[in-house]
Amino acid sequence: MKFSYLKSTIGKKQVMAVAGLLLAGFVLTHMLGNMLLFVGADMYNLYSYKLISNPLIYLAEAGLVAFFLSHIVMGIVLSIRNKSSRQKSYAVAASGEKKASWSSRFMIHQGMVIAVFVVLHLLTFKFADKQQTTVDGVVMDDLHQLVVDVFQSPVYVIGYVIAVGLLAFHLSHGVHSALSTLGFYSEEKKSKIECLSAIYGWVVGLGFMSQPIYVYLFY
Ligand code: HEM
Repeated sequence: MKFSYLKSTIGKKQVMAVAGLLLAGFVLTHMLGNMLLFVGADMYNLYSYKLISNPLIYLAEAGLVAFFLSHIVMGIVLSIRNKSSRQKSYAVAASGEKKASWSSRFMIHQGMVIAVFVVLHLLTFKFADKQQTTVDGVVMDDLHQLVVDVFQSPVYVIGYVIAVGLLAFHLSHGVHSALSTLGFYSEEKKSKIECLSAIYGWVVGLGFMSQPIYVYLFY
């Protein structure tokens, strides 16, 4: 990739869009995998064990770190640039149809909260001490017990619900915005894609929300 491409606004937007779409795919699969919480402890632990013991996991994790970092860095640079060019060009705030939606105006703020959440989330689940359990004669981390222990705390449950609610807004705007940046749809498809993007965001957000709430109420 040429450095001049990354220096251009469109280059940054495209890198951010591709990384964002890959992250959107990750959160959907992560949410669906976590749904095994509803099936039972052994299934949940076995699924995580199978994922972690696949040697390709290191490649996937390196990819995730690269996508998170490039999405965040490009997002911050573009937002600073937008802010300074907006201050120069507009004296009056837009209203009515031209006014940007709540989600789109606060993308950078939502993103910052989500980034802090991801770091805390990794400390809570990935880098925490785990008990061991045995499933089908194989010793593995008892991630199910860890999740159950963490979500006994209402503070964690409320924190998670707020964070994944923001993630839902972020995806609702982010997915269609990324597809538009990459030129995947035409103007006449705009409202349909916006609607699908909102559905995607809220399926992921509500799916994630259901997990701490279920654990808190039923364990
Ligand atoms: C209720 C919601 C969630 C639960 C119960 C949950 C659970 C978990 C658990 C148990 C792990 C550790 C797996 C291991 O040790 O290998 C994990 C890893 C991770 N989670 Fe979540 N998660 C949730 C939401 C999220 C959200 C919303 C994001 C991103 C915005 C996220 C991003 C990650 C990442 C990046 C990893 C590390 C993956 C890896 O290194 O392979 N999680 N999650």
